[in-house]
Amino acid sequence: MIQLKEIDKYIESRFQRVFILKGINLTINEGEFVTLMGPSGAGKSTLLNILGLLDEDYAGEYWFGDKNITKMRDRDRSALHKSEFGYIFQAYHLIDELTVYENIETPLLYRKVSSNERKSIIADLLDRFNMVAKKDLFPAQLSGGQQQLVGIARAIAGRPRILLADEPTGNLHSAQAQEIMEVFQELHKEGTTIIQATHARENADFGTRLIQMLDGKIDQDEVITHV
Ligand SMILES: Nc1ncnc2c1ncn2[C@@H]1O[C@H](COP(=O)(O)OP(=O)(O)OP(=O)(O)O)[C@@H](O)[C@H]1O
Ligand SMILES: [Mg+2]
Repeated sequence: MIQLKEIDKYIESRFQRVFILKGINLTINEGEFVTLMGPSGAGKSTLLNILGLLDEDYAGEYWFGDKNITKMRDRDRSALHKSEFGYIFQAYHLIDELTVYENIETPLLYRKVSSNERKSIIADLLDRFNMVAKKDLFPAQLSGGQQQLVGIARAIAGRPRILLADEPTGNLHSAQAQEIMEVFQELHKEGTTIIQATHARENADFGTRLIQMLDGKIDQDEVITHV
């Protein structure tokens, strides 16, 4: 489904080229649940941004099915992002001017989901994340953990084919984190491809594959076995 070939990302500083990603070769099949781990600065968020079509400034090739992303026009790339991907950001990126309810609704509007169906999907997510009472509040009126839950609800509302999550549980207490991982596990069972970056090793156990990154490279790539 996804194939990265020799991806390099670098910054030109005054005296040298500084690599953020170097020689990334990676194939991810439909239905995998992949966890990226590695020290801060290893390149996890950078790689997720490339995978999620949010960054086109890199060298190498990105194939999405039979589409060469690197050769795609910006407009087509952005349409593909909106139709296929759900993205949970490390910093939540909620729209400040929209309420909780409206934030969650945005991907559904893009996907032309009917008004009744939108209401039922959003009601279900608000209920699941214990946010019913907060639905008319704006992001600035929420705690960090609550904003994260809204970001997660928004990313999964449209039932994306691929869910990318950057530290999805970073600001949640352990019971909430467990709940989110269970939601991911359910989506995975239903066929969603998931790629998450996390510092929490226990989150990796919900997935099927663990990739360790180090200094912009893939250091280890192992299958998670479930007993
Ligand atoms: N636009 C940029 N300009 C310069 N350096 C950048 C830029 N974006 C990322 N970097 C650098 O690239 C490296 C990788 O950053 P990245 O955010 O991908 O790390 P990470 O693995 O997600 O870390 P964390 O676990 O802290 O989230 C860091 O050293 C960062 O400073
Ligand atoms: Mg990061």
